[in-house]
Amino acid sequence: MKLTHLALSGLLAFSAFGTAAVAQDFDRAAEIEAAIAAGDIAKGEKVFKKCKGCHKVGDNAKNSVGPQLNHFFGIEIGSSADYKYSDPLLELKATGQVWDIEALDAFLKKPKDYIAKTKMTFAGLKKEDDRANVLAYLASIQVAE
Ligand code: HEC
Repeated sequence: MKLTHLALSGLLAFSAFGTAAVAQDFDRAAEIEAAIAAGDIAKGEKVFKKCKGCHKVGDNAKNSVGPQLNHFFGIEIGSSADYKYSDPLLELKATGQVWDIEALDAFLKKPKDYIAKTKMTFAGLKKEDDRANVLAYLASIQVAE
C-alpha cells in the first residue's frame, strides 16, 4: 500500500488543524502498543472512575450516557453501533478523523475545545499523566468480539 503515501502527502496540510489521521494508512496495533507503553494501566483504571458514570467498558458493555468504549481506540471516531452521537461529533467523523493518541489526548484535555458543542459534558483531565494513564487503560482493554 505504498501508493497511499503519495495520496497522503496531499492531505498533510490538514494536520495543522489536527484532523489529518487517515484510516486506511493507520497502524492500529502500533497505536495501541504506544498508548500502553506511554501510561500506567493500573493508575489509568483509577482515573477511569471519573468516566464510569457515563461510559461502560468490558464484556457486554452497553452504550449509556456516552458510548461504550471497547475497541474504539485507533478507529474512526463515532463508531459505537447504535449510539446517538451529537451532530458536531458526526461532522468530525465525516472528515475521517481517527482516535489516535494525539486526538484522544487533546479531546480528553478539554472536550469542548476539541469538539465545540459535544454532548460529552465533562470538564476534562488537566493532568497529562492522568490522560496518558487512562489511555493506556483503555488501549489495554480486551473483550471477546
Ligand atoms: C457526563 C458524562 C461523561 C463523562 C463523565 C465522560 N464522558 Fe466521554 N462521552 C460522553 C458523551 C455523551 C459522549 C458522546 C459525545 C458526542 O456525541 O458529542 C462521549 C464521547 C466520548 C468519546 C468518543 C467516543 C467515540 O465513539 O468516538 C471518548 C473517547 C470518551 N467520551 C472518553 C471519555 C473518558 C476517557 C472519560 C473520562 C476521563 C469520559 N469520556 C468522561 C459522556 C461522558
